[in-house]
Amino acid sequence: MTSLTQLSQAIHDAPRWHQAEQFQNPTEITIVPLKDEALGAAVFGLDAKKAQSGETIYRLKQALAEHLILVFKNQSLDDLQYLAFASYFGSIFRPSADNPVLATQEDSGTPPDVVPVSNAVGKGDYTGHGELTPHADHQWTPLPSFGSLLYAIELPQNGGQTAWFNTIKAYEALDDNTKQYINQLQLITYNPFVRFQNNKGTPKEDGYGTSPKYRFKDQPIIGHAYPHPLVRTHPESGRKALWLNTHSEVELVNEDDQIGSELIEKLREHILKPEFRYEHQWEQGDIVFWDNQATLHSRRPFPSDQRRLLKRISLAGGRPF
Ligand code: OGA
Ligand code: MN
Repeated sequence: MTSLTQLSQAIHDAPRWHQAEQFQNPTEITIVPLKDEALGAAVFGLDAKKAQSGETIYRLKQALAEHLILVFKNQSLDDLQYLAFASYFGSIFRPSADNPVLATQEDSGTPPDVVPVSNAVGKGDYTGHGELTPHADHQWTPLPSFGSLLYAIELPQNGGQTAWFNTIKAYEALDDNTKQYINQLQLITYNPFVRFQNNKGTPKEDGYGTSPKYRFKDQPIIGHAYPHPLVRTHPESGRKALWLNTHSEVELVNEDDQIGSELIEKLREHILKPEFRYEHQWEQGDIVFWDNQATLHSRRPFPSDQRRLLKRISLAGGRPF
């Protein structure tokens, strides 16, 4: 017999319905929209270690499409249990080696299934303690991940909050002329990790925030270019969302440099308005599961001498449309 990968082992070991004490009763679960916030719902009464019913997973998928982020409270999981739970919602995101992302390993050319987002582990942890500017995970790849989960294990005393931005609301709040104009535009988001790999001297480990914010046509192209719609349609709800991060290098296809860069700057300012944003105050045991197709997320910095350890799983998505 060949040995199992971590993911196969996770599914192999996961509890099943017939183990009564390991089965989550769906009637114990409540989903409560976050009060007066731009997005998000909290999920109570669910233990992600347990086997879930079809009814529960369907309900969670619908709630995610509606609220865009789900906050699960009081979890206690090992990596295999975490992978087994996340996999109910899709395949693990595994980009190919030609599209480097956070935590891509030199030997495999792909990131681990569970990425330590941490300054605390030592070797093999990612993102350090600095600010992370608003982004959707893996937006620069041909098939960006549809969603990601972060699970909080150790938290700093100060800072390190994560904020999410509702880019459906941001789109809907635009005036009709702007909507009509941008509906037909395609956007290239250049891969910040390629720039980082090329600039080994730059001591910026997260890959964000080090690039120019717009590529003018006289500037070199760094990495591969995959045009995606600037306004994307959410695959479950059909709602339209702005598909634009706020700081890394982008370019509108077939658009004049000046007009394009000014439009992008204006849209970025718009997305950053507080009415589209929810800031999460982490508590140990939280899992936040978000939709990358219709949100951005950012992180506040925290002191380098305080420990923070979260674990991230990203799930595969389709070609944006
Ligand atoms: C990520 C990320 C934010 C945080 O892991 O993709 O953006 O709060 N993390 O650490
Ligand atoms: Mn991220």
